[in-house]
Amino acid sequence: MITRRHALKSAAVLAAAFASTPLHLVAQSAPPTGVHALPPLGYAYDALEPHFDAKTMEIHHTKHHQTYVTKLNEALKDYPDLQKRSLDELLRGLDTVPEKIRGAVRNHAGGHYNHSLFWKTLKKDSRPLTPDGALNRALGELFTSEEDAKEQFLKAAMSVFGSGWVWLVVDKDKSIKLVTTANQDNPLSKGQTPLLGLDLWEHAYYLKFQSKRADYVQAFLSLQNWEFIEAQYDKIRA
Ligand SMILES: [Fe+2]
Repeated sequence: MITRRHALKSAAVLAAAFASTPLHLVAQSAPPTGVHALPPLGYAYDALEPHFDAKTMEIHHTKHHQTYVTKLNEALKDYPDLQKRSLDELLRGLDTVPEKIRGAVRNHAGGHYNHSLFWKTLKKDSRPLTPDGALNRALGELFTSEEDAKEQFLKAAMSVFGSGWVWLVVDKDKSIKLVTTANQDNPLSKGQTPLLGLDLWEHAYYLKFQSKRADYVQAFLSLQNWEFIEAQYDKIRA
């Protein structure tokens, strides 16, 4: 039994501990930690100027992407088995995630995966697609020309109402398709594997382009890291 004397002593010890703790540690709680972490961008924030501006890239990476990571860790904190799953496994197996956290995992594992891929597929002055490469041949079956590809990509981007993504995916039958998703949904949840995705959330472009989504899409269309995308395609086909 806790006696009054014992309780008073405990309270005094607690008060003393707080008194010796720096105020900023008491007042602010650190973001929840977990198995997932914000990956480095891999290049400088201004590396994609003038197409994508440095300020947007910095906020997009350090604030928006970080928030998806933080909230994913928060959602998984009481689920050690799910913490062992990769993002790919979480998104492909959303139906096996407990209903209580399924929405949070869908949004935040999606947001984390989508942005991680987005950064990797962007590069200024990338080398062009290998003319006789497998990806170029596959794209030739989907689009009649480079101009046609850009037009279809723009049309798809403009068709997304509100926030979402446009994707170039490898479908279950290994064919390449152009698809869109809402919010932070990912094609993995439909059995498709994304090769590249375009973030259509306003946080990705509003600072520089305001409401001109089409101008942002045009800027994006000159920033494909074909070396990385081709390597991903070869891995998926293997
Ligand atoms: Fe984003």
